[in-house]
Amino acid sequence: MKRNEINRMKLEFDATSQNEAFARMAVSVFAASLDPTLEEISDLRVVVSEAVTNAVVHAYKNRGGKIGITAILYSDRSMKLKIHDKGCGIADPERCLEPLYTTDPTGERGGMGFPIMQAMSHAFRLKTAVGVGTTVYIEFRFQGA
Ligand SMILES: Nc1ncnc2c1ncn2[C@@H]1O[C@H](COP(=O)(O)OP(=O)(O)OP(=O)(O)O)[C@@H](O)[C@H]1O
Ligand SMILES: [Mg+2]
Repeated sequence: MKRNEINRMKLEFDATSQNEAFARMAVSVFAASLDPTLEEISDLRVVVSEAVTNAVVHAYKNRGGKIGITAILYSDRSMKLKIHDKGCGIADPERCLEPLYTTDPTGERGGMGFPIMQAMSHAFRLKTAVGVGTTVYIEFRFQGA
């Protein structure tokens, strides 16, 4: 089925932990016109949080930077999300996608962010380059009630 783009937005904000709440709120409000269920909104919020947290803590090592989000809504009730940072990049992306893999030295992180993003979305792709940054591409298809 051919799908038409019906709405698009772009955000750029500082890579701080308080902006994680802003980002998940902004994206879920933007998606509301596709009439997702509460469970679908909850999954979307978790996925945005995981990606933004990764940019704050891993890409920029809590020292700040910019995070970009582009979201596109389509007529078939699907949504494309692009979450982008210009941080350190990932040297071994395949390994980073594995469950329980983390480079966090504090023991606070579980290495489950990428597996959760993959499990809760309908499509997931990672593009990254060391010293350039990381982009995650995520797609949702809302089924509704
Ligand atoms: N945007 C990013 N920039 C640089 N490295 C990243 C980025 N996102 C993830 N990584 C790397 O990938 C690893 C795995 O990420 P993932 O989100 O799965 O786990 P985590 O963040 O370590 O733990 P959790 O998400 O469970 O708190 C991270 O430990 C980090 O090394
Ligand atoms: Mg993570």
